[in-house]
Amino acid sequence: FLPKKKKQRDCLINLKIQKENPKVVNEIDIEDLRSTNVCYCRCWRSKTFPVCDKSHIKHNELTGDNVGPLILKKKTL
Ligand code: FES
Repeated sequence: FLPKKKKQRDCLINLKIQKENPKVVNEIDIEDLRSTNVCYCRCWRSKTFPVCDKSHIKHNELTGDNVGPLILKKKTL
């Protein structure tokens, strides 16, 4: 049986991104999207966080997880 604090540490999702901040928040103005598809990381493993760099593929292979990006699509008129 592990102490409660040790258990919580083992469950960290964010291992290295902006650890100096109490909370990681990213704000994106939808009007500033340049391309028609933009992928945002939800696995917290991207080297270009908050943008997905496909690191989730390796993470899923190693852990058996099933995470993937949030994809924002801009309608073309
Ligand atoms: Fe994190 Fe793709 S790299 S969701």
